[in-house]
Amino acid sequence: MTTASEPMADAPREPARRHATPRPAPALRGDRLAAIARGEAVPTETHRELAGERAILEVDGFNLWYGTKQALHDIHLDVPFGKVTALVGPSGCGKSTLLRSVNRLNDLLDTVRITGDMRLDGASIYHPSVDVIQLRKRMGMVFQKPNPFPMSIYENVVYSLRIDGVRDRRVLDEVCERSLQAAAFWDEAKDRLKESALGLSGGQQQRLCIARAIAAEPDVLLMDEPCSALDPIATGKIEDLIDALKGEYTVLIVTHNMQQASRTSDYTAFMYLGRLVEYGPTEAIFTRPHLAETNDYITGRFG
Ligand SMILES: Nc1ncnc2c1ncn2[C@@H]1O[C@H](COP(=O)(O)OP(=O)(O)O)[C@@H](O)[C@H]1O
Ligand SMILES: [Mg+2]
Repeated sequence: MTTASEPMADAPREPARRHATPRPAPALRGDRLAAIARGEAVPTETHRELAGERAILEVDGFNLWYGTKQALHDIHLDVPFGKVTALVGPSGCGKSTLLRSVNRLNDLLDTVRITGDMRLDGASIYHPSVDVIQLRKRMGMVFQKPNPFPMSIYENVVYSLRIDGVRDRRVLDEVCERSLQAAAFWDEAKDRLKESALGLSGGQQQRLCIARAIAAEPDVLLMDEPCSALDPIATGKIEDLIDALKGEYTVLIVTHNMQQASRTSDYTAFMYLGRLVEYGPTEAIFTRPHLAETNDYITGRFG
């Protein structure tokens, strides 16, 4: 585990010299990724705009190990309410691990050990008293590969209401239509609600899965590369949909597609080897990041 007392990676390598003019901010020096690769603790460069947001989800000093291998290091990340936040970074940097930790899907692995905390609306996600089923209801999860249940389109959408014992047909119909509308799938689905969801195309299945997640009225929608199995047209529809969800829903989306992150998100978090390197408004991250390393990644120089 890392502590604040460990040497900073961007500490000067040479003895400090006196300068008549102010030195550039330490954040601007370019050796952080090498320091991370050496296993050193490097503080996250978090832009001050985040301080003006209300965080619905707070990741607070979170570490995670798979057996002896540490996959997440001292992550501090506040996810703003009603905004789309993108997690980007090279393959294997811990994006999915972080997303799965948010709704405790990693609990299913007995080799996983964690320290630190995550809070949803101020309440610890990892407190022993937390009902994990309820927690997962508050976090809709959309995976890389669409996973419709082997039942009708209608039953897929109202699944969470059925689990809660809702029987009123009018309520079910209303939620079904509203959720499919919100997922930009109503027009294509309304005449075939009784058909099996398995007969839909990949892009339709993914919008159905988003509708199913929305129907449960989650506080946060988690999406792990939701377009990576889709063609460009279906991808465009999902991206438009994410854009439309803004304001009403909080979305935390993993993507390795830089265009997608810049098109769909309000905030972008850049991860590298299990650490959060820089986090700020998407526009700033893509046009004037504080760190040279972030710039190198988003311009495709590595990763
Ligand atoms: N179930 C697992 N068991 C052991 N190691 C894992 C497991 N899942 C992921 N890892 C490791 O954790 C690191 C982060 O993986 P992951 O979160 O999948 O990264 P990303 O989503 O950014 O590609 C990688 O080194 C990966 O090999
Ligand atoms: Mg992943």
